[in-house]
Amino acid sequence: MRQAPDLWLLALAALLQVSKQGPHQRNLLRELLRDYNPMERPVANDSHPLIVRFSFILMQVMDVDEKNQILTTNAWLQMQWYDHYLQWNQSEYPGVKNLRFSSDQVWTPDILMYNSAHDKFDASFKTNVLVNSSGFCEFLPPGIFISTCNVDVRWFPFDIQRCEMKFGSWTFDGWHLDMQMKEADISGFMPNGEWDLLEVPGTRNENFYDCCAAPYPDVTFVVTLRRRTLYYALNLLIPCVLLSSMTLLGFLLPASSGEKISLGITVLLSLTVFMLMVAEIMPATSDSVPLIGQYFVSTMVIVGMSVVATVFVLRFNHHDPNSGSMPKWAQLVLLQWVPWFLRMKRPGETADLPPPMPTHVSSQSKGLASPTTTATTATTPNPAPTILPQTLSFLHARLAQLSHPSHPSAGRPNAHQAALPNGQLQALLEEVRYIVERIREQDRQLSVAEQWQFASAVIDRLCFIGFSVFNIICTISILMAAPNFAEAASKDFL
Ligand SMILES: *[C@@H]1O[C@H](CO)[C@@H](O)[C@H](O)[C@H]1NC(C)=O
Ligand SMILES: *[C@@H]1O[C@H](CO)[C@@H](O)[C@H](O)[C@H]1NC(C)=O
Ligand SMILES: *[C@@H]1O[C@H](CO)[C@@H](O)[C@H](O)[C@H]1NC(C)=O
Repeated sequence: MRQAPDLWLLALAALLQVSKQGPHQRNLLRELLRDYNPMERPVANDSHPLIVRFSFILMQVMDVDEKNQILTTNAWLQMQWYDHYLQWNQSEYPGVKNLRFSSDQVWTPDILMYNSAHDKFDASFKTNVLVNSSGFCEFLPPGIFISTCNVDVRWFPFDIQRCEMKFGSWTFDGWHLDMQMKEADISGFMPNGEWDLLEVPGTRNENFYDCCAAPYPDVTFVVTLRRRTLYYALNLLIPCVLLSSMTLLGFLLPASSGEKISLGITVLLSLTVFMLMVAEIMPATSDSVPLIGQYFVSTMVIVGMSVVATVFVLRFNHHDPNSGSMPKWAQLVLLQWVPWFLRMKRPGETADLPPPMPTHVSSQSKGLASPTTTATTATTPNPAPTILPQTLSFLHARLAQLSHPSHPSAGRPNAHQAALPNGQLQALLEEVRYIVERIREQDRQLSVAEQWQFASAVIDRLCFIGFSVFNIICTISILMAAPNFAEAASKDFL
């Protein structure tokens, strides 16, 4: 439809010229077309091939459809040949320099695009053929060409696409119609927002088929396009990088906030959304996994693994202290080796970390240093161990005073002593012992819980560092693997 005005203009121009150029052109046309048969190959000697010079003028790349493997271009074809029967002596027809014939009035080569995907196959618009007095014909059919193209999305979005457009005569062999190639013309190319045109190299090939000895020449132009990456970087890559770093934040989140898992799952879901966006663009092929798909999958694996790791962290953090303390090897690894390696301090520990030493038990609180309480008890800033022994020893002293009243060394008045019989005091001591036991037990549980919590913090830190390294390595190795990553980065981002 868009070519209709051009058609009318051309027809109008032809009419104007017919009327302007007067009788000479009328005579010449009558003369030339009297015996002309458009079926006839216009050569002087039938054994000679007719040489057609063929060229491709690319105006615009309209669409590269990765999913359907189709390239849509706006281009002109250029065909030039000498028509033996369309020559005239210029001095006999003064003023008639050239003539225009519609394409069905004179012989035209039946050159088609072999890999067309157009529903009418030949998409070109049949314009007039321009002829000068030497019989030189120029045929310039424009068209919106829809061609098949093997779009390889292996390196998407850092990919370079090479789309072939193969032209050849549909019926003539090389002995009758010899196609010669002229270089493609891209001087009028309209820049595209999505693609950079690199080059359009052309080659002339000769194919031989079983049927006949004659060669079948064709001319193939390769439209070479480089994808401009900025759009995909902004809309896919940067969000993906951000999301995967969000996963790392999950390891910094305190376990008590209760949001660790939901953060991981949310990141996983948003990655899925981005992956669906990519899947919508990509062809459903298993030939090659696009680079960005690999990146998304590896990021999703990282995020999934981090969710699993978070579950373990939470399990450790909320470990029931009654279900036993940590196994020895776990204590060694999680409480000594890894923290030493990561330069982590237990709460209350001094800055100078001792190197990992086998079962390092400090006994700062002498009053309560029992075999069950390890270093944890000593370092816990718990008021109980300091107050309780005092109370206990005070009570012991009182009891001793009561049972041996010959030593009135205590500075307290003896008013209450007489009021309290010995049996009651014993009962009181029992009560106090019970309370002390309970508090000790609570303290032990607290210390075990603190051990597990510290182990969970250690795992968190370990995962944070591990996943950061993994993430960076994945990002760099996958994205930089693209052959033209540097070129794309330098042209699109700078
Ligand atoms: C046509 O060309 C062939 C081979 O070039 C030659 O043998 C033959 O004589 C030519 N015929 C005429 C009529 O010129
Ligand atoms: C063209 O026509 C002129 C005048 O009729 C004549 O002199 C000349 O020889 C012709 N040229 C050719 C190549 O036939
Ligand atoms: C016709 O056009 C061709 C190609 O441009 C040129 O070589 C030739 O000289 C032209 N003939 C005349 C008579 O102008």
